[in-house]
Amino acid sequence: MADKRRFDLFADFIVSRFVAPRVFDVAGGQGRLNEALTRRGRAVTTFDLRHKHLPVTYAQRIFTLEEPCDAELVVGMHPDGATRIIIEYAARHGLPFAVVPCCSDNGMPYNPWMRHLAELARGTGGFTTVEEVTLTMDGRARVLVGEPAPVAPR
Ligand SMILES: C[S@@+](CC[C@H](N)C(=O)[O-])C[C@H]1O[C@@H](n2cnc3c(N)ncnc32)[C@H](O)[C@@H]1O
Repeated sequence: MADKRRFDLFADFIVSRFVAPRVFDVAGGQGRLNEALTRRGRAVTTFDLRHKHLPVTYAQRIFTLEEPCDAELVVGMHPDGATRIIIEYAARHGLPFAVVPCCSDNGMPYNPWMRHLAELARGTGGFTTVEEVTLTMDGRARVLVGEPAPVAPR
């Protein structure tokens, strides 16, 4: 059973770590992370397929690499099949990402899945930092964070 505090804990982590005003919340389910981030002053779009969802900005569709980029940060809480896409999308657009992986998309157990995702992120060459942080919650609580190099002023 996933920890009900996960959205507030992840939202606190996100706002403490990133200044990004606009956030893509990928595989956001009903939109609870969106709600928590919106309360903290961020403009959030949730991508998922739920017909019943909270009254938040909600794109009711599958998130793909072709999604136009309208955010400064991409995040996902237990995004299952969207986990790799979050990392690949962030790399493609030069964005930071923060993802709390849960189930793998290929049957891989949790620890190898976490290592695989970190290698995937490093392998894109899009991030100067790829690191892990753990939220103080029950269940799958490890956050993989990737940050691109800051853009040099011209
Ligand atoms: C385990 S649920 C987690 C939902 C929510 N983040 C939470 O923590 O309760 C995984 C969600 O990922 C969504 N999902 C998987 N791949 C997706 C994709 N490519 N785009 C949008 N949603 C996706 C599913 O529809 C499902 O709602």
